[in-house]
Amino acid sequence: MRRAAVVAAVGALVAGFAVYGSAQAQEDPARDASGATAASLREAAAASGTFVGTAINDGLLSNPTYANIAASEFSSVTAENAMKWDTTEPSRGNFNFSGGDRLVDFANRNLHQVYGHTLVWHSQLPGWVQNGGFNAEQLNQVMVDHIDAVAGHFSGELAYWDVVNEVFNDDGSMRQSVFQTTIGTEYIANAFRAADAADPWANLCINDYNVEGINAKSDALYDLVSSLLDQGVPIDCVGLQSHLILGQVPGDLQENMQRFADLGLEVIITELDIRMDLPADSGKLAQQAEDYAEVVTACMNVPACEGITVWGISDRDSWVPGVFPGQGAACVWDESYQPKPAYDGMLTAFGG
Ligand code: XIL
Repeated sequence: MRRAAVVAAVGALVAGFAVYGSAQAQEDPARDASGATAASLREAAAASGTFVGTAINDGLLSNPTYANIAASEFSSVTAENAMKWDTTEPSRGNFNFSGGDRLVDFANRNLHQVYGHTLVWHSQLPGWVQNGGFNAEQLNQVMVDHIDAVAGHFSGELAYWDVVNEVFNDDGSMRQSVFQTTIGTEYIANAFRAADAADPWANLCINDYNVEGINAKSDALYDLVSSLLDQGVPIDCVGLQSHLILGQVPGDLQENMQRFADLGLEVIITELDIRMDLPADSGKLAQQAEDYAEVVTACMNVPACEGITVWGISDRDSWVPGVFPGQGAACVWDESYQPKPAYDGMLTAFGG
């Protein structure tokens, strides 16, 4: 049942492509009769049964250039911030869904699926949770209440939820978040069960960074999801954030995705960007195109890799320069919303 929303969304896209493709084929001699030449990332990805998404800052949707690229190039949208705890429940029991609702509305008008991000995370967590002094039972209730309300509100609208985000340290130990230190590792199973009860439709994911290659952290993730599956916890997918560095796509990305797929899970590239030392130059941008293509190809080679989301449309909107000093140019469109070589890299790798 969980798959229904996703399959319907992709089906609609493929149908849309078929109609559009055949009309174009008559007008455009470069396009063959099957309409095989894709005019957007969205069409190219849909033709191979994959979604391609972007993080959206709903405040930027009033910029027509931004909204047009979001609508025409992507088949999935993730709220960059609007569904996080500090936005959705800034004080206990007071909920704000305005940004998330705006995104869902935009998505529905443009035949996008919506990827929910994120229910339980140590960051962008309001002070009343972080410093509330709750004991284990109380904090678990706070967490379950939050999931009930937020996942309940969006139930039926979302294809995925990142139920928990960034639960590990890089060495594979558990991150000492307030949830971990107060409740213990069982908070993760509790969160998935609560999300399943609140929204039986969405695929439920665990999401993290630096887990793209095979390393101590992704080994720990593998062990954790194996144990959740053994316990019958409702988990459907693993999200690999993929905030990558130029020239450093892990050579074992595909192998790593495949081992999670072999557990019966979907694998999603959830937050792809590839940053470089500034300033960018043509050599770096060519390398970046290869890197983006390499990630798309790895996903295409693993049937359980259902989609790829990039973290922001343009270099102008990216979180990277603010967080990694001296680095940037990590996105697929430049500061003027012109497609970079990475765009063709992705398009070609999707088979467009
Ligand atoms: C980032 C957003 O892009 C920024 O706008 C915000 O200020 C901080 O969070 N991993 C995640 C995302 O899971 O939620 C983060 O998004 C980037 C790192």
